[in-house]
Order: sequence, then structure tokens, then C-alpha cells
Amino acid sequence: MESTQCFRAFIFTLMFSVHYSQGMEINKDTSPDKLLVLTVATQETDGFLRFMQSANYFNYTVKVLGMGETWKGGDVGHSIGGGQKVRLLKEAMESLADQEDMVVLSVDSYDLIFAGGPQEILRKFQQSNHKVVFSADGIIWPDSRLTEKYPSVRNGKRFLNSGGFIGYAPYINKIVNQWDLHDNDDDQLFYTKIYVDPLKRENLNMTLDHKCEIFQNLNGAVDEVLLKFGTERVRVRNTVYNSLPAVIHGNVNTKIYLNYLSNYIPNMWNYEQGCTSCDHDVVDLSQLEMFPRVTVGVYIEQPTPFLPEFLQRLLTLDYPKDKLDVFVHNNEVYHEKHIQKFWDENKDVFRSFKVVGPEENISQGEARNMGMDLCRKDLSCDYYFSIDADVMITNRQTLKLLIEQNRKIIGPLVTRHGKLWSNFWGALSLDGYYARSEDYIDIVQGKRVGVWNIPFMAHIYLIKGQTLRNELNQKNVFVLERLDPDMAMCRNARDLTVHRERESPSPESFHMLRAPKGVFMYITNRHEFGRLISTANYNTSHLNNDLWQIFENPLDWREKYIHANYTRIFTENNLEQPCPDVFWFPVLTEKACDELVEEMENFGSWSGGKHKDQRITGGYESVPTDDIHMKQIDFENEWLHFIREFISPVSLKVFSGYYTKAYAVMNFVVKYTPDRQAYLRPHHDSSTITINVALNNKGLDFQGGGCRFHRYNCSIESPRKGWSFMHPGRLTHLHEGLPTTSGTRYIAVSFIDP
Ligand SMILES: *[C@@H]1O[C@H](CO)[C@@H](O)[C@H](O)[C@H]1NC(C)=O
Ligand SMILES: *[C@@H]1O[C@H](CO)[C@@H](O)[C@H](O)[C@H]1NC(C)=O
Ligand SMILES: *[C@@H]1O[C@H](CO)[C@@H](O)[C@H](O)[C@H]1NC(C)=O
Ligand SMILES: *[C@@H]1O[C@H](CO)[C@@H](O)[C@H](O)[C@H]1NC(C)=O
Ligand SMILES: *[C@@H]1O[C@H](CO)[C@@H](O)[C@H](O)[C@H]1NC(C)=O
Ligand SMILES: *[C@@H]1O[C@H](CO)[C@@H](O)[C@H](O)[C@H]1NC(C)=O
Repeated sequence: MESTQCFRAFIFTLMFSVHYSQGMEINKDTSPDKLLVLTVATQETDGFLRFMQSANYFNYTVKVLGMGETWKGGDVGHSIGGGQKVRLLKEAMESLADQEDMVVLSVDSYDLIFAGGPQEILRKFQQSNHKVVFSADGIIWPDSRLTEKYPSVRNGKRFLNSGGFIGYAPYINKIVNQWDLHDNDDDQLFYTKIYVDPLKRENLNMTLDHKCEIFQNLNGAVDEVLLKFGTERVRVRNTVYNSLPAVIHGNVNTKIYLNYLSNYIPNMWNYEQGCTSCDHDVVDLSQLEMFPRVTVGVYIEQPTPFLPEFLQRLLTLDYPKDKLDVFVHNNEVYHEKHIQKFWDENKDVFRSFKVVGPEENISQGEARNMGMDLCRKDLSCDYYFSIDADVMITNRQTLKLLIEQNRKIIGPLVTRHGKLWSNFWGALSLDGYYARSEDYIDIVQGKRVGVWNIPFMAHIYLIKGQTLRNELNQKNVFVLERLDPDMAMCRNARDLTVHRERESPSPESFHMLRAPKGVFMYITNRHEFGRLISTANYNTSHLNNDLWQIFENPLDWREKYIHANYTRIFTENNLEQPCPDVFWFPVLTEKACDELVEEMENFGSWSGGKHKDQRITGGYESVPTDDIHMKQIDFENEWLHFIREFISPVSLKVFSGYYTKAYAVMNFVVKYTPDRQAYLRPHHDSSTITINVALNNKGLDFQGGGCRFHRYNCSIESPRKGWSFMHPGRLTHLHEGLPTTSGTRYIAVSFIDP
């Protein structure tokens, strides 16, 4: 019998929801005009605007109470307070007291969004069969001594939360009318005391939304909820009660989690349409009369590979340079030469260019404060663009794209090449460090594309000058407790209520500042912007340290050191054969050649071309050259890797499938000069194949030179810098180095597979 009833109830609900979802028959009582949303907000914070956006999406009728008023309700979420909300509600209810069939929904707004519409809420409210329904919480607050006064609940949340409640206007009026406390007294305690009083509870016909049918408070409940993707809308499902709550409240310390949910709910992003809000409220730079002024803060806080390339990329940003004021903090003596060179060549390119060097001995946090303050203090500074030296911006439009997205704080997603490492975190652990959000990998890999509200980012971001002068107007944004500077900045932006009070000068601004007004931070992956390079294992004891970066930063190494036309060997057969089985192809850039020669000359111990040679097994070289081995400058592993990565594919191509794993013992740079050794007599190499890369220019750096292959009576007399020969070492390819008649000629040689 019992089970049959249960079954009937189930059928009934099922039919009801089918009707609802098809919108066939709208119950007269659930007409959405009957529902009025009341919320208290004293400022249009990012959270408030998000609340309104979700309310407007569902066409709620919202009345905002207290806008522009000074917040006196205390530091909600950290201590008791919120009485101001009840007082404002009480005032607003006076005129509604006799609207018998009006339903009032009172909700917080800074940390709350709608996931369902007014009809759904009204229907659920009516199904509750009570006059007033408060949201429920698993955690009691603020007075745990009241626990036992609460009615016990077999299945569901037991305690009252005042962040959301719904009821008929006369009943709500009867409740708030009892308020005679102060603005900084606690609202939740006030409502709780009414609820736990059995008589009042019954007279006012109050209940709690024990199973999160309407209200989901996230505190203590993050593990209960999941995103539920539909074709148009995204909702939250409470997996414990199998409900679809329509009001989602990020109470206490679940604001970051609410931010994550609000990247999807109600229709911000879904699988079918992708990001539906990314083009809302954007700025069209081409419509502006003038480009905004931007202060660019550049931070070189540790030895960083490819710094000259980083600086060059600043120059190639597609943005009028006379709108850019550049501030550089360089903490490294090692990089002073790079900055100096850039400064000499480009100091007049930008509107201004200021460098604070290592001699100033200021901390990273102080430097970042200083750069940010330049924009804050300059009223004509529209944006502050902060970039760390380990960010390689490959998209020249980056700055424009960020400005156009029109957010207070926004960073472009940059990732470590081929890794999941990026410049943002999707979630925070309880102690404030990295935690992986459910969508982190999809965002990093570009499987979900959009503009994402996130709790932490670093390395590169754009902040509006206005935001620096308003919400973020404390000078010490980057210094907070023992946090590293980026974490301090993000926490300050997220959480402006707690740490500002120390600085507030007057009681007036004391209250204003305590109003919760965290600034949302966004990361965009709508475009490819660039990458993060690794600064780990950067050994700066050489002259040209980037040469050694082939393992740590392979992409940047390749861009800097591999000839621009190298890939055309494979795509366009861009490879010459000047003599039979002697192949000739571009492989190293001029820079690679110059730096390698510099390293050798810096090392300086040329062998002198003697037969006796302690560096090789046996100690005797029959055809000696004046050379330095790669091993001697500690470059052997890097050079062998270069052969594997860039030479092996060529050998595979030209010698029909001859693939080398690059076993090579003899890797060296040879120097030919008339004063010392000018030529090399005919010889075979002890290799299967030999490569021979010209490291400088005939005509410019030397005269003469070249290579002659005897069997074919064939000479190549105009070697090209950065190009390599590849030929068989033994038997067929007896060859000689032709005399260098003036200047100095350098070549890099490897005997592969001896
Ligand atoms: C809100 O109202 C607009 C205009 O009447 C309508 O097009 C839209 O579908 C409504 N939105 C929802 C979620 O009902
Ligand atoms: C509460 O009100 C409903 C009608 O809205 C009524 O059916 C129910 O009996 C009332 N409950 C109490 C405890 O008064
Ligand atoms: C730099 O500053 C730190 C801390 O402020 C101090 O300990 C150190 O001695 C300073 N170094 C120099 C060279 O002045
Ligand atoms: C850096 O390179 C130098 C020269 O090759 C070497 O002696 C030194 O051990 C290296 N340092 C580190 C930390 O690898
Ligand atoms: C690459 O090849 C093109 C076409 O032959 C040439 O114009 C260009 O200068 C080459 N690039 C370099 C870096 O040599
Ligand atoms: C080699 O070639 C040169 C011209 O390139 C020619 O003068 C010479 O006679 C040739 N020698 C032999 C042995 O064929």
C-alpha cells in the first residue's frame, strides 16, 4: 500500500515536470509577475553585475535595495553582521504588506546566481506547501548553541541560512517587521531565532528547503554538486538529494567555487555553443579616436633564457609605441648587457622607458608595486600591462585583444610548450595554493574556449587603470603576509574586504571599504597568445647561454638557432647537391653560427693542428685540424641532440632511409687562417656520414676556403654561412679543405657513426 502511494506521487511529479519543461500549460498561480526579487547591494561590484546578468537572463523582476548607501552591515562572511539588509528589507516590505498573492524572493547578490527561472521557483515554492521557505545549510551559524532547538531532520539539511528565502509578501513582512536591532547585528541570527521558536514557526508557516530544491548554499556542500550540461543551459545538480536548485549561493569561503560554476551557469558556456558571453560588452578599438595609454611593466626577476628575443617581441606588438610607457625591473646583473643593448637601439621608440636595475636591490614585490603605481598615479594611464620575462608573446595582437575584452583584470592563457603548466589556477586549495579545477585541462588544451573567471594568475595580465585607482588602490598590492607577490596580488584582488581596513583613513571609507567588492580575474584562451618558457636549469656561466637551452626550451631554441628555411628541405626539397652525394642545406641561423664561434674564441685553446692529441683515444690524429671539441666547451650533449633532431631527418631523406641515432665522438669547430692552419690535405673521414657547417661568410670574414672532392673532380668554393654539407665519410669521398687566403674561416664538423 505504502509503496503504491509512493509510486503515484512519483508519477505525478513526473507528469508535472514534463508539462513544465514543454511549457504547455502554465498554471495561473505561477505567473512570473507574481514573483518579486529583492536584494540588498550597496555597490555595483563584479559579483553584483553577474547576479543581475543571471537575473536578466531569466527575466526576473528585481528590486535592488540600498544601492549607493554606505555599507554598515559588518564584514559578512568573517564575522556577524548583515542587519542593514534586514532593515532595508523591512522598509521595502512596508508598501508590499497587503499584496496577498505576491511572492517575495529575498537573496544575496554579490555571491549568488540564478540557475533556474521564476516559474520554476514559484512552482517549487508552491509544492513546499508553506508560506515562507528559507534556504538550508548543513552548518549552523552563527550560534551553535541553538542546534538542539532546531527540529531534527531525517534526510536533509537542518539549519537556516538567510542568504535566500521566499514567501508571500504579508508573511515576509510579518517577519522583518520584528527587526529592531542595529545595522551591524546579525541577520541570520535574527531569522534563526524566529524559526527555532515553535510557535512563531507555525504561525508564520515557515520551513526550510532541506533538500535544496530551490536554494543551494555551497558552504560545506561543494562535494554535493555537479555541473549538468544541457543543450542551452547549464545547471547544478545536487547529487545527494537529486535536485536541481535554482539559486546558487557561494556563501562563506566558496566564492571561488561559485566563480567556477558561474563560468557555465546559466548559459555562459556549453558544449554546443561554446562561449555565449565572450562578445558581450567588448570594446572595438578601431572605433576609438585614440588608442588607450598603457603602462607596460616588465619583470626580469631571475636569469631568463632568450631575453633579447623577449625584448624584441615587445617591439613587434601591434600597438602604437607612443602610447606605451615601459617600466623594466631587472634584478639580474647578467641581463644588464641585454637591457643596455635594447635601450641603445630602442629608447626613443616608446613614449617613455624606465629601468630599475639590480643595483637598486629592491624585492620583487616592491618592484611590482612600483610599476603598478606608475599607472595608478598617472590619471592618463588607461591600462597596466604586466609581463614577466619568461612569457614569449607570439601573438602580436595580444595587447589589443586583451583591451577589447574589456575586463578589469584579464590575462591571456600562456602555457609551457607541450606541458599542462600554465599561468593560471582554476581552483585553490584550502591553504590558498594550487588545486586543479575540473575544467583546467580542457582550458589549457583549448578544448573549452572562452573567458574564464579564475582565482589566480601570474606572468602576464592587463588591469584597467581605473581599477587600480578604485578597487585596487592600496599601494602594497604585491606584499601580503608571506605570500609570493603574485599570490598576494590575486588575493588582494579577490578578497578586498579583509586587508584594506589598515589603510582606511576615515570611518566613512572604513565602512565603504568593508563592503565586499572582490574584483573578478579572468583568463582568456580565445586566441593563441604565446608560451611560458622554463627558467629552470639556466646556467649562465657561458658567454651565450641560450645555446645550451636545446633541452629545456626546445621551441625557443629552434626559433633562435635553426635556419628559417630548414623545414623547406622537407616541404619543398630545398636542398642542393653540388657534387655527387654531397648534399647542401640550410640548418643554423647566423646567430647560432656567431654564438658558437664566440664560445670557441672565448674558450680560446685551439689545438694548433698537431698530430699528437690527448683529447682522442690513441692520442694521435693523422689529419689534424686547428680545432676545439664541443666537449671542451661542455656542449657535446647539446650538439648531439641537435644532430638527432635536425641532422638525422636529413640523412634519412637523402640517403634513402639511413637513419642515424647520432653516435658521434668527434664533434668540433675548425679554424682556418693563413697564420696558423690555412687548409687540410686530402683525407677520408672516420665516419659513415660527415656534416660540415660553415660558421661564417666568404668574402666578408675570409677569402678562399671551400671543399674539393677528388673522385668527382668537384669543388664547392662558396660555402654559405649556416649551411651544412652532408657526405659519406669513407671510400668514395676523399676530400680536402681548400686554402683560406685571408681572414679566418670557421666550420663545425661531426663524424657521424664512425
Ligand atoms: C526573457 O524575455 C525575453 C523577451 O521577452 C525572451 O525572448 C526570453 O526568451 C526570456 N527568457 C527566458 C529565459 O525566458
Ligand atoms: C501552511 O500553509 C499551507 C497552505 O499554504 C497549509 O496547507 C499548511 O497546512 C500550513 N501549515 C501549517 C503548519 O500551518
Ligand atoms: C639587498 O637587500 C637585502 C634585503 O633588503 C639585504 O639583506 C642585502 O644585504 C642587500 N644587498 C645589497 C648588496 O645591498
Ligand atoms: C654550468 O656550466 C659550467 C660550465 O660548463 C659548469 O662547470 C657548471 O657545473 C654548470 N653549473 C651547473 C649548476 O650546472
Ligand atoms: C629562405 O628562402 C627564401 C627563398 O629562397 C629567401 O628569400 C630567404 O632569404 C631565405 N631565408 C634565409 C633566412 O636565408
Ligand atoms: C677538373 O675540372 C676542372 C674544371 O672544373 C678541369 O679544368 C680539370 O681538367 C678537371 N680535371 C680532371 C682530372 O678531370
